[in-house]
Amino acid sequence: MPEQVLLEVHDLRVSFFTPVGEVKAVGGISYSLKNGEVIGIVGESGSGKSVEAYSVMGILESPGKIIGGTVYFEDCDILALNKKEREKLRGNKISMIFQNPMESLNPVYTVGNQLIAVLREHKTISKNVAYQRAVDMLNNVGITNPAQRMKQYPHELSGGMRQRVMIAMALICEPKLLIADEPTTALDVTIQSQILELMKALQKKNAMSILFITHNLGVVAEMCDTVSVMYGGFIVEQGNVEDIFYRPLHPYTLGLLRSMPRIDAEENEKLIPIEGTPINMLDPRPGCPFTPRCNEGMKICMNSFPPHTVQENNHVVACWLEYRKTLQK
Ligand SMILES: Nc1ncnc2c1ncn2[C@@H]1O[C@H](COP(=O)(O)OP(=O)(O)O)[C@@H](O)[C@H]1O
Ligand SMILES: [Mg+2]
Repeated sequence: MPEQVLLEVHDLRVSFFTPVGEVKAVGGISYSLKNGEVIGIVGESGSGKSVEAYSVMGILESPGKIIGGTVYFEDCDILALNKKEREKLRGNKISMIFQNPMESLNPVYTVGNQLIAVLREHKTISKNVAYQRAVDMLNNVGITNPAQRMKQYPHELSGGMRQRVMIAMALICEPKLLIADEPTTALDVTIQSQILELMKALQKKNAMSILFITHNLGVVAEMCDTVSVMYGGFIVEQGNVEDIFYRPLHPYTLGLLRSMPRIDAEENEKLIPIEGTPINMLDPRPGCPFTPRCNEGMKICMNSFPPHTVQENNHVVACWLEYRKTLQK
């Protein structure tokens, strides 16, 4: 895998300015994604995964606002682009797949017209060539009888079909970066695994990088090289899939692994829920956001955010317990 960095997010902070106050949705996250790398972003609902992705994609809506940090895509400072420059990048070099396909499909245009429009917006090709590429792409995403489907409207298709069309739309310009936000959550298991296989195949073929947001650890194991675990708007742990699954360091990651079914789990293996409720983002405390739910919390955890401790294989954790251990070494 080439080691060249494609996406570099540094100290990204995003807030929503609501009538009841500032909601700190993303508190300052940093990571980088190399060419051809698939990174999984996991964490419970409300931890800031989508807001982070929308910010990178440049589609964060009011009252959301990026209040700090930088996002570089190749050498381009994404946050400094104007609307037109962003649109040029979107759909072309960076694409996104949403949980709900209707968010990116237009109900009043046929599937074919939408695919052709995306292509011709970004590439200088004739209508005929675009038509052929669209048919081929539908074929690639496993849609039978693509010429017929080209003439249909999104509402005429089943949920699984629509999801495939959206994936075709996202991939037709062969983006360098794909952001997939829970792309298969709404689908039944068989279609889910077909679509994952397809994404993996296309990823390998084009050496595409993927930011894969999911709460399904089985999907992470299947799809990703590295994982970022988010909690309360922060990345609390980052590492390769092996380290996160077999050598987790943060108490939240441990809890997350115990609370979710694994592919290799026995049928009757008990899942252990994480006690307590997610934090209130309106009034975040200064320390580690997980402290109120952590069994190993200390006084210092409540008062200041833990420094990042870097272990072997770039396994990074933000936890005072780990920091203390490194001091003792
Ligand atoms: N439109 C909005 N207005 C106010 N707060 C929002 C809005 N959208 C998201 N948030 C806040 O951002 C947090 C993160 O949301 P999100 O990124 O959607 O979480 P998830 O990890 O489930 O994708 C939420 O907990 C919520 O507090
Ligand atoms: Mg989300």
